[in-house]
Amino acid sequence: MRTEILIIGGGVIGLSIAYKLRIAGTRRIAVVERGTLGSEASWAAGGMLGVQAETDSPGQFLDLCKASLARYPEFIETLTAATDIDAELDRTGTLKLAFNESETAKLQERAEWQRNAGLSVEQLSATDIRRTEPFVSPNVASGLFFPDDWQIDNRKLLAALRRFAEISDIDIFENTEAGSIIVENGRAIGVMTSIGEIRSDHIVLATGAWTSLIKLGDVPIPLNIRPIRGQMLEFHSAKRIFHHVLIGSEGYLVPRADGRILAGSTTEDVGFDNSNTPHGEAVILNTAIQLSPSIAGLNVSSKWAGLRPMAADGMPVIGTIPGLDDMTVATAHYRNGILLAPLTAEIAAGQILNEEASPWMTIFGTQRLRFTEQVSTTRAF
Ligand code: FAD
Ligand code: GLY
Repeated sequence: MRTEILIIGGGVIGLSIAYKLRIAGTRRIAVVERGTLGSEASWAAGGMLGVQAETDSPGQFLDLCKASLARYPEFIETLTAATDIDAELDRTGTLKLAFNESETAKLQERAEWQRNAGLSVEQLSATDIRRTEPFVSPNVASGLFFPDDWQIDNRKLLAALRRFAEISDIDIFENTEAGSIIVENGRAIGVMTSIGEIRSDHIVLATGAWTSLIKLGDVPIPLNIRPIRGQMLEFHSAKRIFHHVLIGSEGYLVPRADGRILAGSTTEDVGFDNSNTPHGEAVILNTAIQLSPSIAGLNVSSKWAGLRPMAADGMPVIGTIPGLDDMTVATAHYRNGILLAPLTAEIAAGQILNEEASPWMTIFGTQRLRFTEQVSTTRAF
């Protein structure tokens, strides 16, 4: 079989790139997915678009996150119009909470650097917080309000991207595993899969936490992407009891419109095991109850875990492999792949269609990884 663009990996990154390429007019696109589309990390995520809550300093990563968030309203509007599936972009905002003096001091520092970076941030007293969110713990000491840290229902986003692919005649190969990239004269010309060889003009590698398992011919791909497990618990209340996403120093609560509350998460370097564990669940439960004692009385309606794809420096990898033409890599979005999907898709599609590297690719490309082989320390949640 032959196609124009072959995307390996049907998570939010692969599907968003397929979407962007089709909108830009690419005719033959195929997505090869080992399992079913959108059933790994992108499905497991909390859906926070947490630019300000999830970045720790000004700089290029903050700029990348801001630029991707800015693309979200149009991304969702266009996708909803095309598919009739609304991924529910919720712009209520996020509260980052402190429960003691030292956490309050850290929030103060965060507020300062973010204001200096031109971001909107409001400092709240315990009384302000309890007035806005009556079910937050009475032990709350202070907080920050980020009006521009939104959330999306990531599973509905995946459903919309899938529908778009189906109605746009994008070829979808589920239950199909890609093994090695076929390389000829320094060019990626196709891939060996469990259903045979697929040839293409250009390959996109969007294989998330499994990227390092792909081979270039007989040799392992020169990228070290690790799976970092995150467990989640879901609670159910008859109606929405929180308005905002709530984030503490050890975890978070994401309220959905239908009364579900997602509580996360763990950060575990345990290989490709995406099970839940009693310890992980206990940690999440304790953190959730610390944020809001009301959680203790709710039913646990579901639980799951997913594998975040992480590069050695914790930053996304969007670029090409030196010495290999006709292949683009878009992976390692770690904690922020839902947030970063629209911009990643734009960068990858731009590079494929215009054959010119975006400045983002110079910053977040593969070259830097040679110098940072140490796995960086990760934050608490
Ligand atoms: P995936 O969704 O994992 O997709 C990769 C796909 O490639 C998979 O479907 C896999 O089966 C397929 N694949 C792999 N190898 C092959 C192969 N050889 N052949 C064929 N197919 C293959 N991000 C946010 O922005 N906000 C959040 O609130 C958030 N919360 C998170 C909470 C948790 C618990 C976790 C685990 C992650 C969270 N993330 C969040 C991070 C986000 O989920 C990821 O960064 C993002 O989903 C990565 O997308 P992806 O498409 O690269 O990976
Ligand atoms: N961004 C939330 C998480 O990765 O758990």
